Amino acid sequence: MSNLKEFLALLRPYKKQVFFTILAILIANLLGLAFPWVIKIVIDEILPKKNIFLLNTLAIALILVFILKFYFGYLREYLISLIGENVVCDLRNKLYWHLQRLSVRYIENNPTGKIISGVIGDVESIRNFLFGGVVDFIYSFFNVFFVLVILFILDWRLTLISLLYLPAFGLAFFKFTPRLKKKHEFIRNKYAELTSRLNEVFNGIRIVSGFAKEEYEANEFNFKQKEIFKASMGSHKLGILLWMSSEFVSSLGLVTLIWLGAKAVFSGRISTGTLMAFYSYLGMLFFPIIKMVIINNYYQEAAASLERINKVLTEEPKIKEAKHAISLDSIKGNIKFEDVSFGYDNNKEVLSEINLEVKESEVVALVGKSGAGKTTLLNLLLRFYDTTKGDIFIDGYNLKGLELKSYRSKIAMVLQDDYLFSGTVKENIIYGKLGASKDDIIKVARLANAHQFIMELPDGYDTQIGERGIKLSYGQRQRISIARAILRDPAILILDEATSSVDSETERLIIEQAFEKLMSGRTTLMVAHRLSTITHADKIVFIEGGKIAETGGHFQLLDRKGSYWKMWLEQVRATNCKLQSRSYTLESKDFKTGSLNI
Ligand SMILES: Nc1ncnc2c1ncn2[C@@H]1O[C@H](COP(=O)(O)OP(=O)(O)OP(=O)(O)O)[C@@H](O)[C@H]1O
Ligand SMILES: [Mg+2]
Repeated sequence: MSNLKEFLALLRPYKKQVFFTILAILIANLLGLAFPWVIKIVIDEILPKKNIFLLNTLAIALILVFILKFYFGYLREYLISLIGENVVCDLRNKLYWHLQRLSVRYIENNPTGKIISGVIGDVESIRNFLFGGVVDFIYSFFNVFFVLVILFILDWRLTLISLLYLPAFGLAFFKFTPRLKKKHEFIRNKYAELTSRLNEVFNGIRIVSGFAKEEYEANEFNFKQKEIFKASMGSHKLGILLWMSSEFVSSLGLVTLIWLGAKAVFSGRISTGTLMAFYSYLGMLFFPIIKMVIINNYYQEAAASLERINKVLTEEPKIKEAKHAISLDSIKGNIKFEDVSFGYDNNKEVLSEINLEVKESEVVALVGKSGAGKTTLLNLLLRFYDTTKGDIFIDGYNLKGLELKSYRSKIAMVLQDDYLFSGTVKENIIYGKLGASKDDIIKVARLANAHQFIMELPDGYDTQIGERGIKLSYGQRQRISIARAILRDPAILILDEATSSVDSETERLIIEQAFEKLMSGRTTLMVAHRLSTITHADKIVFIEGGKIAETGGHFQLLDRKGSYWKMWLEQVRATNCKLQSRSYTLESKDFKTGSLNI
């Protein structure tokens, strides 16, 4: 049991409670041993001599014993629960905290189900082991020890004969152990897969229903369930076999002892009372021994869980903070990408040799075709990933040398696949800056053009928006995300397609306001597909195949007649088709000023 030390380490903060638990176990144990001895006294002393005084004394003593047993039994169970709950909380908190620091890449590579089953299931099986298994083991160990001492005192010969059957228990133990461990590992992994799928299916329920895939999903679920069913039955079968074979062996032992015990009474070596007490004590031996064997069951499951938990806890966050990371009180928002290259996998470069300088309070728009690398560039700026080559500087400080928390507290973002949490509108906006006042929340909601629709919701700012904000339209969700970002009052604002889902009119309102109010005084990097929204940007960066193809102002880039110009042209043509009443020609001034909003 090489992991035992690690298990015991979990109990270290609760040494005092553990000590009292063991004490309570000891006392409860000793008190539990009194009854068979009383049988002996009744048969050998009280019945033959009709000793009423002794009978009364014994009865009172027994009642006292039972009261004490109740008290210490209660204390034992209470302490076990107390330590158990504490250990579970500690471990879960530690895991959760660590998991959150493990960077985006870890979460991307591990299915949610696996993570959830680690935080919930694995921790639970460790609790079961420590507070079902280990406590039972300690209790049983003392029990077996004390009972054996008494049995030896009563009759050592009969006791030795009973012990002859013990190796049979050991044999069963070694035979079933490895098979049980394998089964538990398999079951746990399958459960993790099942949880992942459940999570995905319910998150994507509209796709499942829309594609009429309910039956398909149900079949897949059933298939996985059957695998778990088979493995679980296998594990139960082993458990039952272990239990039954132990019972069978001990029954054989009992037959021998009845035969030998009766003969010992015939010969006058022991009294009838002693034999009755012997049988009673022997009966008390069976369950504790089984429990000591069964602990293996718990242990196998918990050891596999602990292994997985330790694997997570020893996993180093990919995004590491420098030893003497600098915590900045405030940042101005000067950003510089210097020869930055990056790939999600080693063999495919997504960004190459990016050199980009964004000055304090500048608004820079990133444009380019889908998959060009715009979001990736923002991911690097947020330090969700580290660059493969080159560095990013913030106000002249290397990003890798900045304390993550203080840096990110000065940034706010509206991501392309932005996320709202279940809860109220207000709770979601305030996530940007905990403790903000109601007035501040309303102010930012107005800026994000969200106040009006929020007021029309059934409970206004207190409306529950459902998981991921499912009860709101995409455009409404985006506007709440924008409000949440502005509430942070960031030095750097990142908007990745932040208004892609709102209608053109609302987008125009938000963007106009954005250029005036939201973005003023802060460095802003925004990605937009609708080029009409970024014509006012100080600088437009056109990204093509992971490289910066063109940089400049809107008119500058149009004059170059390069990739930006082509994209602009395509969008103008598309709009032209819709707006047949207005014609845009390449040379027209209208076209150049970007009066594209419809
Ligand atoms: N987490 C990821 N792991 C592996 N590859 C990724 C990951 N995210 C993006 N990529 C790849 O990186 C490339 C650039 O993706 P990115 O999201 O930066 O594009 P984008 O310019 O933002 O596109 P869009 O306009 O569609 O949002 C794509 O080829 C994409 O497949
Ligand atoms: Mg993107």
